[in-house]
Amino acid sequence: MPDRQEQIELLLDHYRSPRHRRALGDADVVMPGGNPGCGDIVTIYLKGEADHAHIADVTFEGEGCTISQAAASMLMEAVHDGRLTMEQVLSMDYHAMIDALGREVVASRPKCATLALGTLKAAIRKYLWDHHLIPEAEAGGAGAERGLVYGTDAVRAAKS
Ligand code: FES
Repeated sequence: MPDRQEQIELLLDHYRSPRHRRALGDADVVMPGGNPGCGDIVTIYLKGEADHAHIADVTFEGEGCTISQAAASMLMEAVHDGRLTMEQVLSMDYHAMIDALGREVVASRPKCATLALGTLKAAIRKYLWDHHLIPEAEAGGAGAERGLVYGTDAVRAAKS
């Protein structure tokens, strides 16, 4: 298990050299997520496979603190390297995300640590809703309970 210093170095490496950080021109869903507490933003670009279960490509853009942007990069890498399905991403646990980033390092910043995961989940729910695979009630902007905002209001809410 990496120690605190190794976790910090891993975060800094992802912050300085983010993986899969680019816009995706042919994305099916473009989902912004914002943290109103600080104004930081992560935007997820998601493209689904023809079976609507697998992820063809997923990328992000963003601006914000080291933890939020490094977490987005680490999440993208985990999804790509693990070839995770949409269902597997939806079942990813926020606490596991904090553990992966180093609980000691990010525990006091849970919103920074989970902004990308919450936004990716919101993007997947939007994708599934667009393809009539989940009811509208499940497609909404869950995440409000964590104080984060997803969708068209995200940028305005984060910056206000
Ligand atoms: Fe804004 Fe971290 S301080 S997401």
